[in-house]
Amino acid sequence: MNSTDLPGSLVCVGLGMTLGSHVSPLARSHIEQSDVVFAALSDGVVELWVSQMHPDVRSLQPFYQEGKSRMQTYRQMVEAILTEVRAGKRVCGVFYGHPGVFAWVPHKAIQVAQSEGYRAHMEPGISAEDCLYADLGIDPGKYGCQHFEASQLLFYRRRIDATAYLVLWQVGVAGDQSLARFATGAAYRQVLVDVLARDYPLQHELIIYRAATLPIQQPRIERVALGDLPQADIGMADTVVVPPARAMEPNPEIRARLAALDLAAASEIASA
Ligand SMILES: C[S@@+](CC[C@H](N)C(=O)[O-])C[C@H]1O[C@@H](n2cnc3c(N)ncnc32)[C@H](O)[C@@H]1O
Repeated sequence: MNSTDLPGSLVCVGLGMTLGSHVSPLARSHIEQSDVVFAALSDGVVELWVSQMHPDVRSLQPFYQEGKSRMQTYRQMVEAILTEVRAGKRVCGVFYGHPGVFAWVPHKAIQVAQSEGYRAHMEPGISAEDCLYADLGIDPGKYGCQHFEASQLLFYRRRIDATAYLVLWQVGVAGDQSLARFATGAAYRQVLVDVLARDYPLQHELIIYRAATLPIQQPRIERVALGDLPQADIGMADTVVVPPARAMEPNPEIRARLAALDLAAASEIASA
């Protein structure tokens, strides 16, 4: 039996960050046309809004519990979604932002559904990343832009390019090895500062950013020196942007090689 013969299906869609204004017509149509909708959203108001689009919206939020490993929570969410797919339902998973950006559950649920022969795919949404480019006036193409999950930056030896932007996600739980906490704190952020201080001066200015999730809100855009990051108020919904600290270094050897290619191409054209 190939995938299209099985009756169950899964689509994971993103609602964007700001209530009402970011949802695409396609995402809305998937929500409305599905048999069951699972929702992992930024707050209760957004969940209420999605409930108006479909009579059977099931929140994934109750799976979260302080002290319980997030990996266990995520696996339970995938299982809840897959149970309905296996029962032959058209299932829609609704996630805030982009369902594929720093989000384990949608990727895993789609992978498992496909491996079992069901139709499953993802529709993109507007992520916190998209909002920060707009709100902070950053073009990731100007100097390049690196994205790291803050804990991953601590747990592994990563190489940072301080001539590009650096965007740090999940700084509110930076350094949580248990995966079971909703917040770490100043001492953990101090470790993050010590790691970043290898590439940036302590007075380097960072931006604490939080996109508006309700149309009446303004984004949080707060500038703070790297050395003061431990004392800053940073929650689950904050992202930290580290602007470049150094100028890009020209690469004369590569430029010389390219110039030689230009010359060769020009003389080929001249002799043609
Ligand atoms: C599990 S990820 C989910 C990201 C989401 N899928 C997206 O597309 O933006 C959670 C992290 O996203 C970032 N985030 C969530 N809400 C945010 C907001 N309102 N503004 C800025 N960043 C946010 C924070 O770094 C947070 O720790």
